[in-house]
Amino acid sequence: RDGALVDTFGRVARDLRVSLTDHCNLRCTYCMPAEGLAWMAKPQMLTDEELLRVVGIFVELGVRQVRLTGGEPLLRRSLVEVVAGIAALTPRPMIAMTSNGVGLARKAEALAQAGLDRVNISLDTIDKQTFATLTRRDRLDDVVAGLAAAADAGLTPVKVNAVAMRGVNDHHVTDLLEWCLQRGYELRFIEQMPLDAQHQWQRDAMATADEVRERLSQRFTLTPAQGRGSAPAERYLIDGGPATVGIIASVSAPFCAACDRVRLTADGMVRNCLFSRGEMDLRGPLREGAGDRELVRLIRGEMWRKARGHGIGAPDFTQPARPMSSIGG
Ligand code: GTP
Ligand code: 5AD
Ligand code: SF4
Repeated sequence: RDGALVDTFGRVARDLRVSLTDHCNLRCTYCMPAEGLAWMAKPQMLTDEELLRVVGIFVELGVRQVRLTGGEPLLRRSLVEVVAGIAALTPRPMIAMTSNGVGLARKAEALAQAGLDRVNISLDTIDKQTFATLTRRDRLDDVVAGLAAAADAGLTPVKVNAVAMRGVNDHHVTDLLEWCLQRGYELRFIEQMPLDAQHQWQRDAMATADEVRERLSQRFTLTPAQGRGSAPAERYLIDGGPATVGIIASVSAPFCAACDRVRLTADGMVRNCLFSRGEMDLRGPLREGAGDRELVRLIRGEMWRKARGHGIGAPDFTQPARPMSSIGG
């Protein structure tokens, strides 16, 4: 079972993104409808024990960072135990979480104690009304408190993710950056991808990386930072640094050639790409008593099927059936 997880293009998976639940307590308009979605039933979801076994296998296969996602990962009741379980693996991977920050204020310290290393928090706007309209919930104060608690607990660098949308929040990108700079958070702007449950994505609604850079340049001097590696974000030093701002240009400048990611859904499916059409069912074999060797074989096979890239914009592009909220981004 030695040897890292490679695909046919020579890319190696080092970063496992684990969705802990598809539930969410916000209803961002670009992600899901107001009424929510048909959530997964509990029996469909991997138990903590199953999940930790699978993560352990990935770590043996060379994964060095585990990122917990959702839906909203804070809604998994056993989150602290899951973090502790991952932190007990050998070699211990870096443990990160991508969250909307609601309720994080109460849990940040316990998560840090359990072994969580850092967090990325979604915050598209600091305007209370725009936040409430965009997320359909009036929870801006919770998120702001969650960010502060994360920094206090040492879950650093604290990163802020903002999906940039034309006419919604793109005219406020410099305000958001100033707000983050004052608090020491690393802001990244994200191009919106076609992963919404409603299948209503339109390229024209997305603020492009160029547009965001242009707007930021009106107030700040941006110079490219070195050392991107396989990271989705292209980073820029702000006014000479050391602070940086990132732009994740998934659509206008795909970074698939350097991809080092693999995903596990809350119901135990391995996805070799955010946009893969197929997925590998691990839950079935797991519950039928498959040994580690068999699970390794299945995982390797799935990685071998990984496509060259997402193909957004290609004539034959279709959105994956599974929405963002149950993949975990
Ligand atoms: P860092 O390790 O802190 O850089 O995290 P990250 O940016 O990889 O993860 P995060 O969960 O904060 O995601 C930020 C944005 O990048 C989201 O919109 C994700 O959907 C997107 N993203 C993350 N990984 C991938 C990827 O492999 N492919 C694409 N196209 N987008 C990705
Ligand atoms: N395109 C790009 N990013 C998205 N996110 C949610 N939906 C999309 C989308 N369609 C962001 C969230 C979160 C991260 C996991 O992905 O805001 O920060
Ligand atoms: Fe990797 Fe797929 Fe994301 Fe491209 S779209 S970077 S291949 S996960």
